[in-house]
Amino acid sequence: MKDAAYQQCINPSCQALYPIDAVRVSCGQCGRLLDIRYDWSRLSVPKSLSFFEHRWSTKGTGATGRSDFSGVWRFRELLPFYRTEDDIVTIGEGRTVLQDAELLARQIGMKPGRLQLQYEGLNPSGSFKDNGMTAAFTHARMVGAHKVACASTGNTSASLAMFASLAEMQGIVFIGSGKISFGKLSQALDYGALTIQVQGDFDACLRRIRQIAVDVPELGIYLMNSVNPFRLEGQKSIMYRILEARDWQSPDWVIVPGGNLGNCSAFGKAFMELKELGLIKKIPRLAVVNASGANTLYEIFTRQGVRWNDGHYDAASIQKLYAGMDESGYYPHTIASAIEISRPVNLPKALRALEVMNGVVREVTDEEILEHRAMVARWGFGCEPASAASVAGLRQLLDEKVISPEESVVCILTGHELKDPNATVKYHTGIDMKSVQDLAPRTEPHGKLSNRPVAVDDDLCSIIAALGGDPKLAERLEGKTTKSSIPVTEF
Ligand code: F0G
Repeated sequence: MKDAAYQQCINPSCQALYPIDAVRVSCGQCGRLLDIRYDWSRLSVPKSLSFFEHRWSTKGTGATGRSDFSGVWRFRELLPFYRTEDDIVTIGEGRTVLQDAELLARQIGMKPGRLQLQYEGLNPSGSFKDNGMTAAFTHARMVGAHKVACASTGNTSASLAMFASLAEMQGIVFIGSGKISFGKLSQALDYGALTIQVQGDFDACLRRIRQIAVDVPELGIYLMNSVNPFRLEGQKSIMYRILEARDWQSPDWVIVPGGNLGNCSAFGKAFMELKELGLIKKIPRLAVVNASGANTLYEIFTRQGVRWNDGHYDAASIQKLYAGMDESGYYPHTIASAIEISRPVNLPKALRALEVMNGVVREVTDEEILEHRAMVARWGFGCEPASAASVAGLRQLLDEKVISPEESVVCILTGHELKDPNATVKYHTGIDMKSVQDLAPRTEPHGKLSNRPVAVDDDLCSIIAALGGDPKLAERLEGKTTKSSIPVTEF
């Protein structure tokens, strides 16, 4: 008999089941992504979303105070995969703000009261990632993990490092050499994570850490990227908080930047479940916005017209696109380094979310991203470049008349402005702080807590050695070590 919470393959021709305490990032039968599923009839689900309001008055004390205080766990009946509340690893994440952006609305031609900005940069580590980390760390604690790792364009690593330190686990982060902003790198170092700079980009880092987590079990690494389905359970709460701040009324549109596509996938799952539970009447429409220099979803969904198709999506078109990228030596490139990803692992789930939320996908240029980032700062509380893709996307959809100025729109601002001050300084002064930093004289760090990153080639032996493992462990994976032969996600 199935437990009330379990894991299941999203492939309708497979649907393999796994227990909730299994540590997996893909299906053992067909290689596709896994979902966390619930048998709601065996769980206690509130009859109305207003049930959650009684938790607003908590001060974070008492038996359930810790979870009531969290903007993720105060909705815990909607992500009930944990065994007891003691399992929950929380650092007070998700207490974020939905701002009525009157001044910005005026600038971009929306009617008063119709534009709201969801500031996920106000999380403890400064980005939306904390919503997912609290859930994945809860699972990691349930299964007794001690070492947790991720590949990252910066924010995932900052969030993982903060949670790992506070949960007393060893945090390990893989970052592409020269690919992340200093604000984010400084966080991973400061919070004490083992920081491995791999010669290559995010996609290369993710391939490596996935390979090590799955194929080198001796190292005991628990993977924290958004291929981990527990991450997405936490990220559903961003939608719950938007509904809560809007008196449980759905907006007409939710607009979000797309990178590895974990966020939009989580949003689709949140609304799929709320609808199934009869807790909402209307599902908002979704717009996912790629940077044009990292536009895989745009290419697949908008240009090529690939659809979820009840899970029978056209995998051959995706494989063909990736093979073409390999052949031409294509690498993504955008000023919005957080979303500089060409092989988004959650692509199938994003297609599902676009179906559930009747969504659209757009791409915006770096110039549009920078201009809209500056506008959010001038007429809001600021955000990092990738986040402003959502507002740039809104502008485009208004121009196309896909969205009308009367409709209610929520743009998700995924990361804090201070994550990438170099981009801001360059925009206002023309000074490229990054090149200044690259030329800066270096001294041996000698602080008592100094935590230097370790630079390695994109090579399995060197990476295993940097992780403190025996490089010989790499031998058994021989033949699987060339870049193109390691699948990111099976299609
Ligand atoms: N915005 C910011 C600020 C991000 O850091 C990311 C992803 C995204 C948007 C895209 O979200 O992947 O769910 O589509 N950053 C990841 C990282 C990849 O490693 O920090 P997504």
